[in-house]
Formats: sequence, structure tokens, C-alpha cells
Amino acid sequence: MKRFFPPAFYNLRTLIGAAISSVSFGLVVFLTILDLFEGEQKPYIGILTFIILPIFILFGLGLVFYGTWREHRREKKGLPHELKLPRIDLNDPKQRNAFFWISLGGLMLLIFSAFGSFKAYEYTDSDQFCGTMCHDVMSPEYTAYEFSPHARVGCAKCHIGPGAGWFVRAKLSGAYQVYATIFNKYPRPIPTPIENLRPAQETCEQCHWPKHFYSEKSLKNSYFLSDEKNTHWMLDLLIKIGGGNIEAGPTSGIHWHMNIANELTYIAADSQRQNIPWIRSKNVDGTVVVYRSTENPLTDEQIGTMKKRRMDCIDCHNRPTHIYHPPARSINHVMSLGWINPNLPNVKSVSLKALEMPYSTKQAGLDSIKLAMEDYYQTNYPVLARTEQDSISRAIIEVQKIFSRNYFPEMHVSWKKFPDNIGHMYYPGCFRCHDGKHVSDDGKVLSRECNVCHTILAQQFEKEGLRLSLSGVEYKHPVDIGNAWKEMNCSDCHNPQ
Ligand code: HEC
Ligand code: HEC
Ligand code: HEC
Ligand code: HEC
Ligand code: HEC
Ligand code: HEC
Repeated sequence: MKRFFPPAFYNLRTLIGAAISSVSFGLVVFLTILDLFEGEQKPYIGILTFIILPIFILFGLGLVFYGTWREHRREKKGLPHELKLPRIDLNDPKQRNAFFWISLGGLMLLIFSAFGSFKAYEYTDSDQFCGTMCHDVMSPEYTAYEFSPHARVGCAKCHIGPGAGWFVRAKLSGAYQVYATIFNKYPRPIPTPIENLRPAQETCEQCHWPKHFYSEKSLKNSYFLSDEKNTHWMLDLLIKIGGGNIEAGPTSGIHWHMNIANELTYIAADSQRQNIPWIRSKNVDGTVVVYRSTENPLTDEQIGTMKKRRMDCIDCHNRPTHIYHPPARSINHVMSLGWINPNLPNVKSVSLKALEMPYSTKQAGLDSIKLAMEDYYQTNYPVLARTEQDSISRAIIEVQKIFSRNYFPEMHVSWKKFPDNIGHMYYPGCFRCHDGKHVSDDGKVLSRECNVCHTILAQQFEKEGLRLSLSGVEYKHPVDIGNAWKEMNCSDCHNPQ
């Protein structure tokens, strides 16, 4: 028989090593091909393909070299070759039988390992895997996701997706994430924004056609003040979403202006993109307008060197699915549904306080909420604590639910750390630019005028009459703060840093 390799190669260790390497390599090729043909790509299979199997390949190669080296030394010393393979004589019925069973076993093993790696491949794509495999790490994102409008959209749909470049990037960062999780090196909370998130054009726009015209969206919000009576306050807003393109008819509203026809570029002074000192808008007809902050102006040199970002969906919809709700909003919501009884005195402020205490673990939080709320009513309203026991228990359960969906002490996650850019009440949001303090060279101001983005159709305080007008009523802040709400950002008071 002709031999391809030097004689030192033919020894048991080297041959076993070669077998391990080639089978692992075969599996890598198999999984890679599988991944290429599958429409949806699965990032974490990379762990198997690019971490675990390569370890076996390397181990096999190590054996090959060790075996060859050892054999070479034996050769030099004049010792005989070590390889003594069994002779198989298929004419001998005993040997034939053994040969048959061993071959069958080997074949089954091959089939099962291919099937097993295929199953592993399937599993790594599931949201269950993404969300729970690294349980503590991803628990905030996964929990928020489960209660969001995108709960049926796979993690991979937004975070990975088709395209070779992103495929490789996702594999590499997936591999790094595994390393970080195993060695407990991940940051808490996981920082946002994600630097290498796929561009919105390739993710959101697979499902949301950007030229589609969205009509106005009506928001009917209920609020309760932090007073003893939990004074009720109602607001009916018509948000001018808009969108569309020139062929499709009217182009207007928030979406048209921001993304489709215009090209908006901005510079952010912080990593969370909350402080925006410079904006350039380029119109369809090519007119360019530059707005500069009068509060934190940048020098021309800084503008030249700092990173500029083209605005896309994520700059407003940065929390489409991992939404950590501000506590005031969640409590208003369950109170308006009656799940927390609005007749319980001070229940708004008591619930808010219980949620906002700093807790070290989830369990400590849940227990303390119960204690604090029970204690409050027993001390201040002992009679009510007995007669309204059911309402109080229900309120506690609702507050605990809000807590467990929005606060993750172990990961240091809460609403304060993750600004949502869609509005302006609890975070700067739209007012990062539309604050009346960004001015163009020819004096145009990005105004904070309340009717630019929405029309306030109706507003009502508990006992006062309904103020209603289709062309919009003037805003009235629920508690008297003078003109502060016109001059400051809402978030300065509603989410003080
Ligand atoms: C609808 C699209 C979408 C889906 C579905 C989605 N994400 Fe996200 N994810 C985002 C966006 C957008 C961000 C924030 C990006 C930014 O601000 O740069 C984000 C951020 C994150 C972050 C960084 C920390 C943070 O909270 O900002 C993690 C971790 C994460 N996602 C994990 C997951 C997991 C796990 C799933 C599935 C259970 C998932 N995502 C599903 C869009 C999505
Ligand atoms: C795989 C398809 C898919 C992708 C990708 C996707 N979405 Fe959605 N999105 C949906 C569906 C379906 C709904 C409607 C859910 C419902 O009405 O309950 C929705 C709803 C929404 C809503 C309305 C939410 C609400 O409060 O009712 C917004 C805003 C939105 N998506 C933004 C985004 C953004 C931004 C991205 C990119 C980060 C994105 N979507 C990616 C399918 C998708
Ligand atoms: C200037 C900020 C801004 C940008 C950029 C932006 N949006 Fe929106 N979008 C909004 C606002 C504000 C709303 C309405 C408020 C709400 O959903 O609560 C909205 C609503 C939506 C809705 C829900 C419509 C409904 O009827 O509920 C979808 C879907 C959506 N946007 C998708 C997108 C996509 C896709 C992109 C990127 C092509 C995008 N948006 C870019 C601000 C923006
Ligand atoms: C990065 C800065 C920036 C952010 C953030 C931003 N905008 Fe704007 N927006 C602009 C600029 C610049 C213009 C004016 C473009 C022009 O006419 O030159 C504009 C214009 C608009 C207009 C059109 C106003 C008009 O005069 O017709 C609407 C509506 C609008 N923005 C809504 C929003 C909403 C809603 C949000 C928050 C979800 C938001 N914007 C966030 C920069 C921003
Ligand atoms: C640049 C656009 C823009 C301007 C200017 C603006 N708003 Fe808004 N506002 C929004 C958007 C977008 C939302 C919707 C957020 C959401 O969907 O939760 C909103 C929501 C609100 C809400 C409901 C908040 C909540 O979370 O319950 C109130 C109240 C409100 N605006 C009042 C005002 C008042 C008062 C002014 C004038 C000082 C004003 N807005 C100016 C874009 C704007
Ligand atoms: C100078 C500080 C300040 C500013 C600025 C301010 N608010 Fe308030 N706001 C308050 C106080 C104080 C309350 C009463 C809090 C309570 O009773 O829980 C309140 C209560 C509210 C409530 C009802 C209670 C709730 O949280 O559910 C709403 C809604 C509200 N403000 C909206 C706004 C909006 C929208 C803006 C920006 C246009 C704004 N506020 C700006 C101080 C401020």
C-alpha cells in the first residue's frame, strides 16, 4: 500500500488524533452549510461551531503531532514501529460478525451525532435559548420582551438577521458573550445602546414598511396625583405619526419629517445619546440646515472630529421591546383599570415609594413592598386596613407584579438606567432636540410647541368639566407649577437625576 505520510505518522495516537480532528472538522462544515442554507441565521450555534468543535479539532491535531514526534524519536533510537493493526479476516464467521456489529455501531453513532448537532442547531435559535440560557444576564431583557408588543418576534430577528457580514459579527460577539458569562465578566446592567446592532433598515423595515402612512394615533391617558385622594386627571392626545412618500399622497407628521425624505445627522456628547448638541437636516431638495445647542455649544474643531450618526428608527424607538416602564406610568395604568383601587387613600404615592426604594435582590424587594404597604395602612388607617383588606392585598400583588417585570436588582436594571426616546415625559426623548434651545444659523428654533407633534383633544380634572376641542385645547399642567413646564423639560422634574 502506498503511504502519503512519513512513516512516523502511522501510529495509534496519531491516527486517533486525526480521526477526532476530521470528524470535528466535518461537523463544523456540516453546521456551517446548514446555517448557510437556512433562511434565518442562528447566532449561538456559533458556540458549538466556532468554540466547542474547534477545541476538539485542536485536541486531535495535538495528538497527531505528539504521536508523530514520539514515533520519530523511537525511529531514531532504532526501535521498531509501534503500529500493529489487527488483521481482519472476513472469512472467519466470528470476525465477520464482530466487524458487522462494529460497523453498524459506528454508522449509528455518526447518524446520531449529525442529528444531535442539528437539534442543537435548532435550539440555539429559539427565544427560550436566547433569553434563558444565560439566565441572570438576560433575565431583564427577556422579561421585558415577553410583555412587549414584539413578544412574538424572535430575538434573532432584531439582533441578527440575513447578510454575511452581520452573520460573522454575530458569531464573534456571541462567542465573546459566552466567555463573558462563564467567567462572570459581563457588565451590569448590559450597556445600551448596542454598538453593533444591525441597522434599522435591515431589521425593523423587514416588517414595518417605512413608506407606509400611519395615521394619527390616539392616546387616552389616565393619571392619578400623589395626594390623599389620588386625584384623577385625564388627557386625550392625537399623535401625528404620519409617514408616507410623495407618490402615496400626503407626506407629513413625525415619520415623514424624520426619516423617509430627510436625512438627519447628529452628534451625541454621551454614550447613551441623551445630550445632542449638534444636528444637521438635509431636505429632499438638498437644503441643509444645521442646528446648534445654545446650552452646550460645540467648537468647530469638535464638530469635525466627533462621531456623527444618521438618525433611524432606533433613535426614537430605542426600546421597542425591552421596555422598563417608569413606575408612575405603570401605577396609573393599573389604577385606571381598577386593579389598584383608586379609593385607597394615598395609594399612588405609597406604591411609588415602595417601588422606588433601592433593593439588593428581587426577593428582598418583593418582601419589603408587602411589609411597607401593609404597615402604612395599619399605622395610618387602622380601621380601613381591616375593612379594605382585600383591596390592600390586591394592590400589593399588583405592585409586586410591576416590580418583578421592571426592576432587576441583581443586574442593576431599572427604568432610570434605560432612557426611552419615544416621548418626553420621563426621559428627554424628543426634547433632546425639540427643546426650544437648538437654533439654526438663520435663527430657526426647534420648537417645543405642544401642538407640533400632537393635538391635545381633551383634558379633564376629576371634578372640573371636560375641556374638549378638535382643533386642540391648551395644555394645563395638573398641579400648579407656574410656567415651569413651558421652560423646563418634563423629565427634569418627573425623572430627576
Ligand atoms: C423588536 C426588536 C427586538 C427584539 C425582538 C429583541 N430585541 Fe433586544 N434590543 C433591541 C433594541 C432596539 C435594543 C437597544 C438598542 C440600542 O439602544 O442601541 C436592544 C437591546 C438589547 C440588549 C442590550 C441591553 C438593553 O437592554 O438595551 C440585550 C441584552 C438584548 N437586547 C437581548 C435580547 C433578547 C435576549 C431578546 C429575545 C428574548 C431580544 N433582545 C429581542 C431590539 C430587539
Ligand atoms: C418580525 C417582524 C417585526 C420586526 C422585525 C419588528 N416589528 Fe415592530 N411590530 C411587529 C408586529 C407584528 C407588531 C404589532 C404587535 C401588536 O399589535 O400587538 C409590531 C408593533 C410595533 C410598534 C407598535 C407598538 C405598540 O405600542 O403598539 C412599534 C412602534 C414597532 N413595532 C416598532 C418596531 C421597531 C422600531 C423595530 C426594529 C427595532 C421593529 N418594530 C421590528 C413586527 C415586527
Ligand atoms: C422622530 C422619531 C421617530 C423615528 C425616527 C421613527 N419613529 Fe416610529 N413612531 C414615532 C412616534 C412618536 C410614534 C407614535 C407614538 C407611539 O407609538 O407611542 C411612532 C409610531 C410608530 C409605529 C406604530 C404605529 C401605530 O399605529 O401604533 C410604528 C410601527 C413605527 N413607528 C415604526 C417606525 C419605523 C419602522 C421607523 C424607522 C423607519 C420609525 N418608526 C422611525 C417616532 C419615530
Ligand atoms: C436628533 C434630533 C431630533 C430628535 C431626537 C427628534 N427630532 Fe424632530 N426634528 C428634528 C429636526 C432637526 C427637525 C427639523 C427639520 C427641518 O425642518 O429642518 C425636526 C422636525 C420634526 C417635526 C416636523 C416639525 C415641523 O415643523 O413640521 C416633527 C413633527 C418632529 N420633528 C417630531 C419629533 C418627535 C415626536 C420626536 C421624538 C419621538 C423627535 N422629533 C425627535 C430633530 C430631532
Ligand atoms: C417634538 C414632539 C413633541 C412636542 C413638541 C411635545 N410633545 Fe408631548 N408627546 C410627544 C410624543 C411622541 C408623545 C407620545 C409618547 C408615547 O407614545 O408614550 C407625547 C406624549 C405626551 C404626553 C403623555 C405623556 C405620558 O407618557 O403619559 C403629554 C402629557 C404630553 N405629551 C404633553 C406635551 C406638552 C404639554 C407639550 C408642550 C410643552 C408637548 N407635549 C410637546 C411629542 C411631543
Ligand atoms: C417644575 C417641575 C415640573 C415640570 C417641569 C413638569 N412637571 Fe408634571 N408634575 C410635577 C409635580 C410636582 C406633579 C405632582 C406629582 C404627583 O402628584 O404625583 C406633576 C404631575 C404631573 C402629572 C400627573 C401625575 C403623574 O405623574 O401621573 C402629569 C401627567 C404631568 N405632571 C405631566 C407633565 C408634563 C407633560 C410636563 C412637561 C410638559 C411636566 N409635567 C412638567 C412637576 C413638574
